[in-house]
Amino acid sequence: MLAARRGPSRRPANFFKKGLFMIPPNVSSEMVNFDPKVQGIDPAAVHKVTLAGGAVMPVAAFGTFHSDWAQDYMKDATVEAIRVGWRHIDTARAYENEEVVGEAIREAIAKGYIASRDELFITAKLWNGHMSKQDVEPALNHTLRALGVEKVDMYLNHWPWPNVHTPGCAGDHRNSDAVPYIHDCFMETWGQIVRLKKAGKIVDIGTSNHTAADLKLLLRDTDSFSRPVVNQMEMHPLFQQTGLRRYMESQGIVCTGYMSLGSPNRPGRDRFKEHRADMTDPLIQSIAAQNAVSPAKVCLNWAYQRENKSGGYVAMATRTDWIVDNLSAATKDFLTPSQMLAISGDDTPEHPGIDANNRLIWGQVFLWPEALGDWRVLWDDSQVFETRAAYAKFKQSFQNHHQVWQETTVNAPH
Ligand SMILES: NC(=O)c1ccc[n+]([C@@H]2O[C@H](COP(=O)([O-])OP(=O)(O)OC[C@H]3O[C@@H](n4cnc5c(N)ncnc54)[C@H](OP(=O)(O)O)[C@@H]3O)[C@@H](O)[C@H]2O)c1
Repeated sequence: MLAARRGPSRRPANFFKKGLFMIPPNVSSEMVNFDPKVQGIDPAAVHKVTLAGGAVMPVAAFGTFHSDWAQDYMKDATVEAIRVGWRHIDTARAYENEEVVGEAIREAIAKGYIASRDELFITAKLWNGHMSKQDVEPALNHTLRALGVEKVDMYLNHWPWPNVHTPGCAGDHRNSDAVPYIHDCFMETWGQIVRLKKAGKIVDIGTSNHTAADLKLLLRDTDSFSRPVVNQMEMHPLFQQTGLRRYMESQGIVCTGYMSLGSPNRPGRDRFKEHRADMTDPLIQSIAAQNAVSPAKVCLNWAYQRENKSGGYVAMATRTDWIVDNLSAATKDFLTPSQMLAISGDDTPEHPGIDANNRLIWGQVFLWPEALGDWRVLWDDSQVFETRAAYAKFKQSFQNHHQVWQETTVNAPH
């Protein structure tokens, strides 16, 4: 099928209780292209990792988040992904298309691409706006109903804090109710996630976008049943997060990377002039040329092979050739050890690697007042609190200090 991209999205307005997601359209003139004649890949050939609880997870996950224009094609893209052999589907309430993914799963079964939903590993995510004791179970129930499944294989807490942004907001949107990570609040949410795991609605639990400090607190306060077994975070050749990943792996947490291709069609609010594009990096291009594979395959094969093949990647596409290419990247070692080293580096002058700390999701729309507009505070663990009381104390002291600062200092921030 060849279909022109079109809009606008069928996304219902104000879908979420607390207001959520903005996706400025990056409408492309290219074409969505699904070609049923293209042969798929045997799912058995796709590398898998065993999670701490014993479940087996395909390392390549088909992503279902896309900017507005592709929402109309996400069902067809997901059916096509299943047809060509993807068995791990990455979803989230925030992507506003769980129903569509559910339809795709049913259609894939009806077409005989899979015999039942049990052949899939389904990852779902709890949205920030539902991070409270009373909201977790209804949110999961909604997700299960929308996907048309009785349980999900992996339920990730999408972000560490309950901060939301309103639909249609711009990159400079700020939510005055936003707060930093407060461990005792988070544990109320996590406790509900664990309870739903016990109830059998979730097989395994994990986190997404969590940093070392908040994970340390979580690991301190959980046992083997209630520990996260996966952390999904931004990772690609120009943003490798090797230290954080190694720490998490040392704790038995499998790390999967999103935006593994550098997310060329990401929303406008996540585009900054400092950003570089992974697939056009000269080293990635040169390795692609040497191996006669696409730059995308270089990025994804690197993601699969790195750190002793211990993690995974999420990638999405709306063309059959790319959907196949992206899955085949997890089937064998297309890159040589020296090419892997050239990308990863080893902290020596001979092998610097190409990590450029090129974080694409700055998360500025989630900032709380005391971060003073500096998005790096979201990631550098400088404002992580154990208790509500600790945060209240900090906030008070911050306000006092800030007032004096403004009254007395030349060029104080306002
Ligand atoms: N946990 C989180 O907070 C979080 C955050 C962001 C994303 N995610 C997950 O990660 C998934 C992937 O993120 P993403 O879609 O932003 O980034 P991505 O997978 O890095 O990039 C996808 C884009 O790359 C293009 N593309 C795909 N395959 C290609 C190929 N072989 N050659 C050239 N271009 C190719 C696609 O273009 P077309 O659009 O033209 O097909 C698509 O727009 C999401 O769908 C979502 O499931 C999770």
